[in-house]
Amino acid sequence: MQKKELLYEGKAKKVYRTDNPDLLWVEYKDDATAFNGAKKGTIVGKGVLNNLISAHFFQLLAEKGVPNHFVELVNEREQVVKSLDIIQVEVIVRNLAAGSMAKRLGLEEGMDLGGPVVDYCYKSDELGDPLINDDHIRALKLAAPEQVKTIREMALKVNDILTSYLADKNIILVDYKLEFGFHKGEILLGDEISPDTCRFWDSKTREKLDKDRFRRDLGNVEEAYKEIYRRLTGREVQI
Ligand code: TMP
Ligand code: ASP
Repeated sequence: MQKKELLYEGKAKKVYRTDNPDLLWVEYKDDATAFNGAKKGTIVGKGVLNNLISAHFFQLLAEKGVPNHFVELVNEREQVVKSLDIIQVEVIVRNLAAGSMAKRLGLEEGMDLGGPVVDYCYKSDELGDPLINDDHIRALKLAAPEQVKTIREMALKVNDILTSYLADKNIILVDYKLEFGFHKGEILLGDEISPDTCRFWDSKTREKLDKDRFRRDLGNVEEAYKEIYRRLTGREVQI
């Protein structure tokens, strides 16, 4: 497999073409942004950790029957994935109230929601990724109703798999964001699953082990990402 020219550079990743038109080469960066790019910084080693953590989750999900874009790791910072025609909807699954939901609805962070709550956001940097519902998705022609049903079922299956997997590692999966896309007519889970895109809390202390440490200037950001990698794999990574 050969890495070819840069196709796209996002806030956290660079995407390159490969010699295979069905596959893309993704490089994870150390750059961190929050609040739609308003806050910028660097989390040293984040690219390596998120690449390895995301690969770990996608391999687990594939084994458990969640079709996804992951193909292989090529090195610590890069992985090969199937190319997707991305559905322009962020699918957020919440188990405890936190972040924008806690703020919008006046809930205390950490409140049990009594079952998963699925939110959809329209992927638009210009509009600040506004919250939308199933009808908006249809009206905006972002996806057909039966596709939304499939995506919701996949997102909830991911929730069952990851909440119990992480509970065994003393991690509460508070909430997370998923993206989906089409590959040869099939809907696959895409993008990444990492401390950038999930809220992970220590089960006992409820210490935050995710990007909220950067968003909220809590310190020990790199240590939190390393701790997640350590709990998932039992290994250390040299940054
Ligand atoms: P929120 O509380 O800000 O809506 O975030 C919910 C979850 O989605 C949280 O785990 C972080 C993740 N997320 C992203 O991955 N990308 C984003 O752009 C946003 C806003 C949230
Ligand atoms: N990733 C988004 C941004 O850069 C938001 C976030 O994760 O807080 O702006």
